[in-house]
Amino acid sequence: MFRKITVKGKASGKELLNQTIPKVKNTGICLMDYLRNNSLPIASSCLGEGVCQKCLVHLNKKKVLSCQVMVSEIENDDIFIEVDYL
Ligand code: FES
Repeated sequence: MFRKITVKGKASGKELLNQTIPKVKNTGICLMDYLRNNSLPIASSCLGEGVCQKCLVHLNKKKVLSCQVMVSEIENDDIFIEVDYL
C-alpha cells in the first residue's frame, strides 16, 4: 500500500513536494522531521516539544503542529500539506 504526499507553499504558490511513499505503520517519524528530511525548512524553536507552534502546517485543511503528528498515524492515503511561509 502506498500514499501520496503533496506539499504546497502558500507564500510561493508552488508545489514543493510530490511523492508516493510506502504506507508503513510505526515508522516513528513525525511530520516535521519527514518534511525537513525532504529539504523543506519547517520552523521550530522548541525542537519538537510542542511548545513554540512555529511548525504549524495545514494537513488536509486542518491546522496541526507537525512535530506532534506521526506520519504513520495519518489515516488518509492522499495527504495534502500547505505551509504558510514557504
Ligand atoms: S516545533 Fe515547536 S511546536 Fe512544533
